[in-house]
Amino acid sequence: MKKLTPTIAIDGPAASGKGTLARRLARHFGFHHLDTGLTYRGVAHALLEGNMLLDNEDMACLVAEKLDLGSLNKDILSAHEIGEAASKVAVMSKVRGVLVDAQRKFANKEPGAVLDGRDIGTVVCPDAEIKLYITASPEKRAERRHREISQKAQEGAEVATFEQILADIMKRDERDMGRSDSPLKPAANAHLIDTSEMSIETAFNTALSLVEQALWE
Ligand code: DC
Repeated sequence: MKKLTPTIAIDGPAASGKGTLARRLARHFGFHHLDTGLTYRGVAHALLEGNMLLDNEDMACLVAEKLDLGSLNKDILSAHEIGEAASKVAVMSKVRGVLVDAQRKFANKEPGAVLDGRDIGTVVCPDAEIKLYITASPEKRAERRHREISQKAQEGAEVATFEQILADIMKRDERDMGRSDSPLKPAANAHLIDTSEMSIETAFNTALSLVEQALWE
């Protein structure tokens, strides 16, 4: 391997499949994995729980400083309202600064780390050994999210329609790509993978071969 503690940076829009790829790559290489979206969600959740305003930057910073990356509970933090709140928290530069510092520390863990999010290749780990940008059309992403939610839902429970999910995804893209601090965009040297027409297996094998080339050649 070229470097002793490599970093694999994975970015992309909501529901692009980047989380699944990041988890599988981390497992394959025996690396640590951080879903950085959970850090923004963790701050948003704590603010909501404490009945605090989502746009109070100083309060959000205090919460971010206390956040323990080891105790982020994906099951709780995956809730739709927390995702919406997280994308509001994520526009505040001071909060981003605190979370980015913690994410950079995580990226240096031995024997290596995979981080996924929106600004890993551009801001958090600009020197990562390999950067992937995972994308898919908004319709495909909405379709996958809709299927996932419908499968998890209890029988008889009301689930969001495809159209509602598509509208949410487009709104989230606009907020993530349009913010002034660290907007979502591919790093100049990122490899683009469009998974619209790919199975998870094909997407994983495509990502794996790019990572292997970067780490070993
Ligand atoms: O990937 P996710 O849905 O869990 O992310 C929740 C929000 O957090 C998303 O709207 C954008 C923000 N986010 C960010 O700004 N930077 C990251 N590195 C990860 C997530």
